[in-house]
Amino acid sequence: MTDLWQDAMDHAVSAARGAGQVVREALLEDRMVMVKSSSVDLVTQTDQKVEQLIIQSVKEKFPTHRFIGEESVAAGEPCVLSDEPTWIIDPIDGTTNFVHRFPFVAVSIGFSVNKQVEFGVVYSCLEDKMFTARRGRGSFCNGDPLQVSDQKAIKQSIIATEFGSDRDPEVVDKIFSSLRNILCIPVHGIRSAGTAAINMCLVASGCVEAYYEIGMHVWDLAAASLIVSEAGGVLMDVEGGPFDLMSRRVIAANNRTIAERISGEIQAYAPARDDAA
Ligand code: IPD
Repeated sequence: MTDLWQDAMDHAVSAARGAGQVVREALLEDRMVMVKSSSVDLVTQTDQKVEQLIIQSVKEKFPTHRFIGEESVAAGEPCVLSDEPTWIIDPIDGTTNFVHRFPFVAVSIGFSVNKQVEFGVVYSCLEDKMFTARRGRGSFCNGDPLQVSDQKAIKQSIIATEFGSDRDPEVVDKIFSSLRNILCIPVHGIRSAGTAAINMCLVASGCVEAYYEIGMHVWDLAAASLIVSEAGGVLMDVEGGPFDLMSRRVIAANNRTIAERISGEIQAYAPARDDAA
């Protein structure tokens, strides 16, 4: 059978590697920080430059493909997941980490067709770890296969989550209430890498049993969602329903039992969807 998307995936890996080099070089220089939706939702010229570099290189090779890019959407481009081949790009996942030189920063490139992710590439550029997955063909880190943890007991688990950039006190109360419930199960620990994509790759690698968050975006999730499921993990909405890429809510876990237990402890809320008009 013709392998329709291997060429695109090879391009994504090389674009992510090139982008990672730009990010590493930018870390050695002064970074001009700008704000987006609030004073804690940060963006730099490097986010914008890297996204344009990736999009330009893809356009040259695949001129009919579409894009959802974090910084293009911030600049007013529509955020539409259609059935067409679509590249879903976060040029720097972990921008706040990047600004502070906290050493977890990823370039995330997902690719969907018929609204289904066909491949995902997450390049953790300071660790030089290239996470990849093709639908139906497994997940890998620097070429080595990934497998989620086989831990069945939530009380012997580490759970990853993030605090996001919403500082509305009601939202913050819900975040802390969920965190308290989960911590007091009790679990072994709670961790935050500062990037949704790397948190999810940690689930795929078996280092943490689960990651949950409300508020991140499709570009943070698309590539890593496939990396988790191809490593044997499950994806779920925070209220236990099916995972929806555009809903800005996710539980990514090593198994359904742990995902369902976490969903029972989360104080859910619904931020505006990524595809809200
Ligand atoms: C953010 C990171 C962070 C998560 C936020 C995301 P960005 O992405 O993934 O960990 O808590 O919800 O928006 O802005 O660094 O690309």
